[in-house]
Amino acid sequence: MKSYLLGLDVGTGGTRAIILGKGDAIISSATREHQPIVSPREGWAEQHPEDWWSAAAGAIRDCITKADLGGQDIACVGLAGQMHGAVLLDDDDQVLRPAIIWCDQRTQQECDWLNHVVGHERLIQLTCNPALTNFTLTKLLWVRNHEPDIWQRFRSFLLPKDYVRLRMTGEHATDVADASGTLMLDVARRRWSSELMAAVGLPEACLPRLFESEEICARVCDEGARATGLRAGTPVVAGAGDQAGGAVGLGIVRPGDVSATIGTSGVVFAATDRPAMDLEGRVHTFCHATPERWHVMGVTQAAGLSLRWFRDLLLGLPTHQKGYEELINEAAATPAGADGLLWAPYLMGERTPHLDPRARGALVGLSASHTRGHVVRAILEGVAFSLKDTLTLFDQMKVPIRTVRLGGGGARSPLWCQIQADIYGHEAEIADAEEGAAYGAALLAGVANGVWSSVEEACECAVHIRTRAQPRPAVMTAMRRQYQLYRALYPALKSIFAKLTNNQSPEIPN
Ligand code: XUL
Repeated sequence: MKSYLLGLDVGTGGTRAIILGKGDAIISSATREHQPIVSPREGWAEQHPEDWWSAAAGAIRDCITKADLGGQDIACVGLAGQMHGAVLLDDDDQVLRPAIIWCDQRTQQECDWLNHVVGHERLIQLTCNPALTNFTLTKLLWVRNHEPDIWQRFRSFLLPKDYVRLRMTGEHATDVADASGTLMLDVARRRWSSELMAAVGLPEACLPRLFESEEICARVCDEGARATGLRAGTPVVAGAGDQAGGAVGLGIVRPGDVSATIGTSGVVFAATDRPAMDLEGRVHTFCHATPERWHVMGVTQAAGLSLRWFRDLLLGLPTHQKGYEELINEAAATPAGADGLLWAPYLMGERTPHLDPRARGALVGLSASHTRGHVVRAILEGVAFSLKDTLTLFDQMKVPIRTVRLGGGGARSPLWCQIQADIYGHEAEIADAEEGAAYGAALLAGVANGVWSSVEEACECAVHIRTRAQPRPAVMTAMRRQYQLYRALYPALKSIFAKLTNNQSPEIPN
């Protein structure tokens, strides 16, 4: 019997596998953790592709065993994963160096070079996006500039989940959604950009074959089957980067569908029927995981991280879930607006809307009468204000917003959901069980396997709304005023942030 679908999400902290049974029910899931990120220098972030492969193979085996199934029962596999990372391979597909992953910040000089040689506007014309240190191309250029011995042996690159696919199937392949984050894709035409490759002097032969997310692009090979327990020959769909995959899992596929997800970082994601662009590059414009759809997204670097940082600071490490409950209950007992306290969540610099790695966190308006609950409420509101900044940009770009669906750990707190509804000024929907990118990958596998006729149909059948939070008119009006004050924080503090980060040096005495 071969009616089960397997979805895999090769994340940063670990790899998660899920199996979908008949309809949309998850019958089994398993996660294997990765080794921590290696940071040989400040701002660098590397992981070992071999570690992803052994975690993926282990999670798949665990998941099949837990479901009491055999490999022959899995009809199709879908892959999702962390975006933007560069896995460099030689002629024999051997990994040349640790992968440089999405959050690595070493490539500002390569971004400057791209802006000089290709030009900021031309880059946006060719790829729909500006040069950002996160994007894969800048990482390849860094290796070309700094590691000539490795570069001499370089033949091809893969994104993280696509390296797992290589080991599983022997094929070099990727999908348009994940490829959008490389800065080498002509996002508007959904094909690699020959013009860009020529302009930067990279051979097109280094690019993986490109597919739509729901297309079958490879089959499990003998070695892949031995490692994972899957049957050799099992079809594998192209899949998606974790953001587009997670959006499919939340049912965000039609124009007007918008999600706001609070994990460590926060992402506001909108599905569009055209490549909508912000000429300043403050949001990413990428292909969506279904044909003729695109998406735009804005990123708040420290969303859930703001709350975790404060919890760890107050309650000490190691802490647990209970700490959050206590803090959120205290925040719920304070009024909306936190009695005049504001939080700017720039603990890790900021992507949207400021594109400023030197921005820093700020708690503004403290008085002796403020309590711990006020600070927590200010943090919950400040993160929502930051996500609202992306919604404001969407309005300016004429990106339609019909519903806002909440996801990530933040959606598990009713208070944070209510705060988001009041601040966004939109009804907020909370999905039944949010299973993230692995779920989206399994739905894509189901479309390829004929369970559903399209990604849209898969989402209609599989994503259910559990509850809704309505914006409360009086609070909404108060939050609109508070948002104007929040918007004034960054311009007021920007030059101070720059001076503070410039002054950071070991010579300053304590
Ligand atoms: C998206 C992004 C992250 C990574 C890691 O632009 O940087 O979501 O994909 O999860």
